[in-house]
Amino acid sequence: MDLIKPLSKSDLIIITIKNQLFIYFKMCDIMAEERAQWNSRWGFILAMVGSAVGLGNIWRFPNVLYANGGGSFMIPYIVAIFLLGVSFILVEYALGYRFKASISKILYSIKPKFEPIAWLILAIIFLILTYYIVVVGWDLIYLVLSFTKGWGANPDVFFSSNVLQASDSIAGIFTFVPMVLISVLVLWATIWVITQSDLNSGIEKVSKIVIPLLFIIVVVIVAFSLTLPGASIGYTQIYTPDWSALLNFNVWLAAFGQIVFSLSLGMAIALTYASYLPEGFALADNALLVAFTNSGFEVFNAFGVFSILGFMTFTTGIPFNDLVTEGTGLAFVVFPQVFNQMGAVSYIIGPLFFFSILFAGLTSAIALVEPIASSLTEKFNIKRKRAATLVCLVGLIISLIFTTQAGSMILGVFDLFLNNYALLFTIVLECIIFGWIYKFDNLIETLNQNSHFKVGRIWKFVIRFALPIVIFILWIQGIVNTLFSGDSATYSIMFILLISLIIVPVILAKMPAKNEKYYEVLDEL
Ligand code: ALA
Repeated sequence: MDLIKPLSKSDLIIITIKNQLFIYFKMCDIMAEERAQWNSRWGFILAMVGSAVGLGNIWRFPNVLYANGGGSFMIPYIVAIFLLGVSFILVEYALGYRFKASISKILYSIKPKFEPIAWLILAIIFLILTYYIVVVGWDLIYLVLSFTKGWGANPDVFFSSNVLQASDSIAGIFTFVPMVLISVLVLWATIWVITQSDLNSGIEKVSKIVIPLLFIIVVVIVAFSLTLPGASIGYTQIYTPDWSALLNFNVWLAAFGQIVFSLSLGMAIALTYASYLPEGFALADNALLVAFTNSGFEVFNAFGVFSILGFMTFTTGIPFNDLVTEGTGLAFVVFPQVFNQMGAVSYIIGPLFFFSILFAGLTSAIALVEPIASSLTEKFNIKRKRAATLVCLVGLIISLIFTTQAGSMILGVFDLFLNNYALLFTIVLECIIFGWIYKFDNLIETLNQNSHFKVGRIWKFVIRFALPIVIFILWIQGIVNTLFSGDSATYSIMFILLISLIIVPVILAKMPAKNEKYYEVLDEL
């Protein structure tokens, strides 16, 4: 009897398919083990909103809006959301989602000589993080003070003499301001606890709790503010247009600058977050949702801020113009002055206001750690815990500079150099690399896979031409406006930053990867 039947052709095909499926699922298991993944769609969306909604939305936007034509500013602002905001988020989403890798690995894979650009971007956002956290630290101080109005009768004097204790000379770098130092230590410890945890129990969990809380707080503040006497003096400014502002080139540039900062563009955050997405995700639909939530939040919040300032004008007679100042002055001088005028309810509204800045700032800060930790993990084959610890430790050491009496002066130079010069420059480079050197149609294909909102040739035109040209103009204008107004200390700090931003990325790119997979080519060019 013939016990062993020879295999038929169809049996062989079935066995082959089974084997292939087995290998495929095993591979998926291994990949899932290696690369973290969001637990839910909402986890990803809330983390993205958390990265975008930050100090830029709460205190930067009202001043930018007011100084650039009020209601008519909405026109350049909406153009900037589409042309720049949504367009660039789409690039980052498509890259992260398609490559499922960190920015350094992606740029290496496109062309090995581009790897230093990735480390340059990471070095820039790392340095931004080191001072961003200090501003959030000032907020933490005010949060504690707000329960007793501990800033006293003269908030302006309190801020400069007690919190900043700013010295004019760089020699102040040797004297710490203890209050700021403690606050910054607490914040770095918090960021470390969150970022060294895995993606789901760290960033995802925190975003799911903090972002809804932030939105509830802001709704309470805005609803309350609108009922204040004199509120209309303020909020009508938001929709009172100055049409002549539309002819002013700087107004358009201000709109683009706001969107870059507010949406954290070019910082590789959207790219890194999208690399943790499972397949089948509607990327383009989501980019729109995130961009509009971010902008909706800042416009809505501006109604609260302007109403509160209107109340101040109404009760004290101080002209509205004098109250709308840039971020730090608005949050730590004008708002404490308003709370001093407000009576008992300010003991609730005051803490809520400073809580909102804390939550917004904290979620943006943890987002800045992620792209750096992701690249370090992949290149040097280290665990996430170790990468996050390294980032937080070195970050803390650099932040210490800003907790000294020379801190606020140095912080101003860092902010100007990194945001206006360095980051805009790297966005132009990214547009050139992804728009011209990488096969851009791959990104279109990735984005259109699952979304209702389809992207096509217009988007390609925007990334290849419109965006790099606009950002380049913004970059030149920023340099021309500010570079020649500094003193010798400013130029020395800028020089140190420039040298560091050349040397550190080159060293990191030159260091051999500890993981051979890092050098795999990820995509067809
Ligand atoms: N997008 C962050 C902010 O607005 C950086 O503060």
